[in-house]
Amino acid sequence: MNFIRIPKSWEIPEHQVTAENVYFNRRRFLKILVGAGIGASMIPIAGCQKSASETALEASLNLPKIEKVRDNPAFINANRPVTEEKLAGQYNNFYEFGGTKKIWLNAQKLPTENWKVEVTGLVKNPRIYDLDDLKQKFPLEERIYRFRCVEAWSMVLPWIGFPMKALIEAVEPTSQAKFVRFTSFYDPNITTGPGFHIGSLPWPYTEGLTIEEMANELAFFAVGIYGHNLPKQHGAPVRMVIPWKYGFKGAKSIVKIEFIDTQPATFWNTVVPGEYDFEANVNPNKPHPRWSQATEKFISSGPGLSWERKETLPYNGYGEYVASLYAA
Ligand code: MTE
Repeated sequence: MNFIRIPKSWEIPEHQVTAENVYFNRRRFLKILVGAGIGASMIPIAGCQKSASETALEASLNLPKIEKVRDNPAFINANRPVTEEKLAGQYNNFYEFGGTKKIWLNAQKLPTENWKVEVTGLVKNPRIYDLDDLKQKFPLEERIYRFRCVEAWSMVLPWIGFPMKALIEAVEPTSQAKFVRFTSFYDPNITTGPGFHIGSLPWPYTEGLTIEEMANELAFFAVGIYGHNLPKQHGAPVRMVIPWKYGFKGAKSIVKIEFIDTQPATFWNTVVPGEYDFEANVNPNKPHPRWSQATEKFISSGPGLSWERKETLPYNGYGEYVASLYAA
């Protein structure tokens, strides 16, 4: 039991945790990124006055704290620094809200009031949960996980949520249930904003796991990040986090979870099957058809800010938990 709670670095104002030289290097780094055209639309250059965009970003991240969260000792250290919140909060993929790095701003249109998650299919106890049900029924914990996108960038993020296996125990899948399909929120009047029409994409965004993958210790539903509720751009109010797989497996803003007997069609696997397979485990030895996966760009911003090249780890470094799932 924790009697003394030590504040996390992301709970302390930046000027209290960051040495001045590091702070100014960070600003220089952001300018270099912008100058290089990397995510030019996503990172404001800080001056004395905040830009409208920076104020909007801060508002999108300034959310109620989540109380009664326990640390999970197995996941308090990802062996890399936690990515700065403001950086993670504007470097998003959420194609329902566009294909640029202005996604964080467009995603503020997501309506999260009265959210419901339907759990259905081959289960003994089908149920519609609202967000309070989820937060109260399943004890919340914090887990600091490495996050690896298929586009070969990576971060470290402090999620708050509960293991997926807790939901499995509550709904009791029948013996016929072999796979699980997860469906994201979709409303064509709100999502897929102007300027982003890739033909007839198979909306809503769906993802899938085998039931064994969902029951694995690591598979997680996040309702928060950095100590507070999940910002809309990260997939509020509840999303999947599957740290040994590429980030696209982590569907955001989940509205439906179905236990089924056959492998479901999933969004990216349907759109480009040759590039995004169903399993999508992080694997340095299996190149994407258009780029290598041997290394990744780690977006770090702790002391020693960097955009570092690092070797990709098999299963994103989580082999001890999951390799046995794939043993021949
Ligand atoms: N979920 C939905 N509904 N729509 C999306 O476009 N993008 C995926 C995943 N989940 C996506 C999604 C991809 S490609 C990545 S890398 C991660 O979300 C990004 O999560 P983040 O923006 O919180 O870092």
